[in-house]
Amino acid sequence: MQQLTLNGTSGVSDIYIESGLLAHAATHCLAHFAPSRVHIVTDSHVAPLYLDTLRAQFTMPVSVTVIPAGEEQKRLSTVETLYHDFLAAGMTRKDLVIALGGGVTGDITGFAAATFLRGISLCQIPTTLLAQVDSSVGGKTGVDLPEGKNLVGAFYQPRLVLIDPSVLSTLPPQTLCDGMAEVIKYGCIANPTILDLVRAPDYRSHLQHIIYECVKIKRDVVAVDEHDTGLRQILNFGHTIGHAAEKLGNYTALTHGQAVAIGMVAAMKLAAATGAPDLTDTLTEILVQHHLPTALPYDREDIYHALLSDKKNFGGTMNFILVRTLGKAEIKPIPVEQLHELMQVL
Ligand code: GLY
Repeated sequence: MQQLTLNGTSGVSDIYIESGLLAHAATHCLAHFAPSRVHIVTDSHVAPLYLDTLRAQFTMPVSVTVIPAGEEQKRLSTVETLYHDFLAAGMTRKDLVIALGGGVTGDITGFAAATFLRGISLCQIPTTLLAQVDSSVGGKTGVDLPEGKNLVGAFYQPRLVLIDPSVLSTLPPQTLCDGMAEVIKYGCIANPTILDLVRAPDYRSHLQHIIYECVKIKRDVVAVDEHDTGLRQILNFGHTIGHAAEKLGNYTALTHGQAVAIGMVAAMKLAAATGAPDLTDTLTEILVQHHLPTALPYDREDIYHALLSDKKNFGGTMNFILVRTLGKAEIKPIPVEQLHELMQVL
């Protein structure tokens, strides 16, 4: 089993990665927590696949909330449902909440755990590649508002993250590709050997190693900047233009991974326009191999206007993450007028 520890200011997070780990989840939970009862939050896609395997391992009372699958559940009313379910189950601060699922389940459950009784023990068991390499690690939790995504939330480290790559075998192919966009992001910003690994035709047999390398990068970045005021912004490589594209498609035309893929290619073009070597072809080739799109599906003027309303627009300047050499990311503040000129290359 591979292990990483994240020492955050709001708590320590132990991260275990091993194929087959889900079958031993309770042993690891009970080594970290001493709950009288356990509440599992999962969704309608994951419950039929993995809920029984997890629930059957605990000898104390286990209660469950199954939320309908889908991003539209990532809202305050779902969190309120969880509070009511926690209370109905008799959960106290010494009990344990487990998030079993993808990014939506993890974000909602994390926020509910951060705020219920001002904080209750949390274990994340991510079941998508995106959640395994990104959202389950690092303590970002939250929900969307009608005005925008992730506008309400808290930093709250899960004390334990159990990553079982074998559960990825049941993912729909598109969902795996979405996670690969985040994996490729880590390769670009911090470790180009990840790009070599994902280029290999048999990359799926090395997923555990690939996940470990990605999570190690995230652990190192979050350890330096847990509250996202500096270095952590490099994890947003491809996300700025990606978010603009997601917004223009009303969050339904593109998946998050597709938007990030498009955004990374655009960011590579912007880096080249500022004098860096052009890495666009290298990146495009890898994304295409993983069935991810690379071309902007919207007019660049529309993208520019969507960018202006982004929460990352600080007083007329936007921080872009640029990669001039594979494996190295730079946070580059770009005034919005200059951005408009640079975007002519897109
Ligand atoms: N998903 C980016 C971050 O955790 O900062």
